[in-house]
Amino acid sequence: MSADMPIADNCERVFVTAEDKLRRLVSAHPDYLPQYTQNGKWKHDGAPWTNWCQGFLPGQLWLLYLYTDDEYWREKAERYCALIEARKDDRETHDLGFLFWHSWKRWHDLDAGARQRDVVIRAGRTMGLRFKEKGGYLSSFVAPESAFIDIMMNVGIMFYAARETDDAELYNSALQNCLTSRRYLVRGDGSAAHEGIFDLDTGAFLRESTHQGWRHDSSWARGLSWALYGFSTAYSFTRDPRFLQTACQCADYYILNTPAHGICPNDWLEPNPARPYEASAAAITSSGLQDLAAIVGDPLRARSYRNYARDIMARLSQPDFLAGDDPDWEGLLKQAAYHERLGLGVDESTMFGDYFFLESAAKLLGLI
Ligand code: GLY
Repeated sequence: MSADMPIADNCERVFVTAEDKLRRLVSAHPDYLPQYTQNGKWKHDGAPWTNWCQGFLPGQLWLLYLYTDDEYWREKAERYCALIEARKDDRETHDLGFLFWHSWKRWHDLDAGARQRDVVIRAGRTMGLRFKEKGGYLSSFVAPESAFIDIMMNVGIMFYAARETDDAELYNSALQNCLTSRRYLVRGDGSAAHEGIFDLDTGAFLRESTHQGWRHDSSWARGLSWALYGFSTAYSFTRDPRFLQTACQCADYYILNTPAHGICPNDWLEPNPARPYEASAAAITSSGLQDLAAIVGDPLRARSYRNYARDIMARLSQPDFLAGDDPDWEGLLKQAAYHERLGLGVDESTMFGDYFFLESAAKLLGLI
């Protein structure tokens, strides 16, 4: 396996490795929904920070079903979806898109059942309850005055629920969050702030902040990847050209600021970072860039985004990232970070990194 292999061979290798790792995970720890590894092992007593990753294991199980057409994976995917169903009413989290889009919405795409549709719509409506009229944003789990760039990955499910139920208010809440995030969380150079703090009385934007970047005014790579992907999704639902422009600005920032191998650090502006890579952000970017290439219109830009997405996957398919040659490592994608500042899951595998790595491979193979 190498960067010179045809990309389809690299993607096949990613799927074959995922099948082996996930079969072992669901056999060794049935019904367990991990977030990140410690020393390459999923089962440990490390702190969760927040419970936002539980949709990514069922999401990977669906992708394996699509790849293998094996009922074993469908049965597991349905079972693991059922484990998280009650969270459609979870008002403690801003991550309902992360929880339900890659799990229940994928199930719905395959089966188009009323039950699946209702669960996704309910999650989208619950997400909408976070909307703050003053300020025009969806509040994060940390505080009512806080908005996260990550929330851009959770507006798609609101747009979907609004469209399915003809709910103009829900649509408008999602739209306003996109406009507010674009104005205050994405900067003129295309970089992204992790968090914005608003005045609850007036709705005025007060300042940038961060939980996972180097500094409040620096450039946390995963936040930018969420913005790139999330604004592409927002454009797909709304056809508002402002969101396409923002997605492209974020993509161009990533490409301009990352070495030729395509794998970003945790924060582009951190001087002398302890680790060179945050592989999950690269995987998210590879998947998001493929969506962006499909909607951008300009063929030259589309080709450059598609090629860059493939280059990332070629690099991530090498053995220092893809854990295929390391039977003791239980995750799929190495050198990711769950929460670098808290020291949780650093230089490890994460459920979201593994998910978006597999999702990007699935897109390159034409499975989704
Ligand atoms: N909670 C989203 C992230 O850590 O990227």
